[in-house]
Amino acid sequence: MSLTIDFSNKTVVVIGGTSGINRGVAEVFARHGARIAVASRSDDKVQDTVASLKALGAETMGFSADVRDLAAIEGGLATVHEAFGIFDVLVSGAAGNFPATVNGMSANAFRSVVEIDLIGTFHVMKACFSYLKRPGASVINISAPQAFLPMEAQAHVCSAKAGVDMITRTLALEWGGEGVRVNSIVPGPIDGTEGMLRLAPNELVRKRVVESVPLRRMGSPEDIGQACLFLGSGLSSYISGVVLPVDGGWSLGGCGDMSSYLGSLARQKEQG
Ligand code: COA
Ligand code: NAP
Repeated sequence: MSLTIDFSNKTVVVIGGTSGINRGVAEVFARHGARIAVASRSDDKVQDTVASLKALGAETMGFSADVRDLAAIEGGLATVHEAFGIFDVLVSGAAGNFPATVNGMSANAFRSVVEIDLIGTFHVMKACFSYLKRPGASVINISAPQAFLPMEAQAHVCSAKAGVDMITRTLALEWGGEGVRVNSIVPGPIDGTEGMLRLAPNELVRKRVVESVPLRRMGSPEDIGQACLFLGSGLSSYISGVVLPVDGGWSLGGCGDMSSYLGSLARQKEQG
C-alpha cells in the first residue's frame, strides 16, 4: 500500500510553533510541502524557526505576538492572510506550565496559565475564523492529559486544558456547518521538550515516566506532527470534535505516578 500526503499549495499556521512539539509539527508539514507561518512571543525564536523551515524548502513567514493579546494575534494573522491567502490548517499550541500546588501559587500564577492556554486559545480561534478555508479547513488544538486527568500541582493546567478541549468540542458544533473540522491532540510525554524538562527534570523521573508508558518510550515531536498531518489532511475528512491522545497509551494508566510525584516536588519547593 502506498500513501502520499501532499500539502503543496496549502497554508498551515502554527501558533506557539517556535519550539518543542509545535515546532516539530511545523517541520513535519514543511517536509510535506506546506507553506508555513509560525508565531510566538520571542522574535528571536520566530526568526530562528523561519530560517530552519526555509532550510527544509518551505515558503515560510512568522510574527511575534503574545496569545494573551487579541489585537496582536489579529494583526499577525492578518499579515499571514495577506501574504499566504486562506488557511487550510491551523494548529494552536501556545502554553505555559510549572509545578505548583494551589496553596503554593498566587492568583496571578493561576491566571497566567489560564490566560495563555485557555483565553489564548479562544483568541486564536476567534481571530482565525475569517481566514479559514470554508469548507475544508482543519483546526487542531494542542491539549494535554491534564485536561481529563486530575494531577497534583497542575490545577492551573488541568483547568485551562479542560477548557481547551471544551472549546474544541463547542467549535466543532458551531463551525461544522461551515465545513470546518476542529479537533484536539493530547500529546503524551514528549522527549527533549520544555514541558518534560519542567515535569520530569532528572534521569530517575524520566525512567519512571518511560516505564509508565505502555509503549515503553517517550514520544517525539514528529509523532505529534504525524497525527497533525492526519487530522489536517483529507484522510480524516469525517473526524471532528475529537480529543485524540497521541501518547503511547500513557493516559490509560493515569500517566503513572506523575500526579503524586509532581505534588511532592512542588511541596518540597514550596516548604523550602
Ligand atoms: N511556581 C509558582 N508560581 C510561579 C512559578 C512557579 N514555578 N513560575 C511562575 N510563577 C508565577 C509568578 O510568580 C507570577 O505570579 P506573581 O505575579 O504573583 O509573582 C505568575 O506565575 C506569572 O509569572 P511571570 O513570569 O510574570 O509570567 P510570564 O507571563 O512571563 O510567563 C509562565 C508565563 C509563568 C507560564 C512562564 O513559565 C512561561 O512563559 N512559560 C512558557 C514555556 C512553558 O511553560 N513551556 C511548557 C509548556 S507545557
Ligand atoms: P514549549 O517548547 O515551551 O512550546 C511552547 C510554545 O508556545 C513556544 O513556541 C513558546 O514560544 C510559545 N508560547 C508560550 N507562551 C506564549 C504566549 N503567551 N504567546 C504566544 N506564544 C507563546 O513547550 P512544549 O513542551 O513543546 O509544549 C507544546 C505544547 O504541547 C503545549 O501546548 C503543551 O501544553 C503541550 N504538551 C506538551 C507535552 C510535553 O511532553 N512537552 C505533553 C502534553 C502536552 P515563546 O516563548 O517565544 O512565546
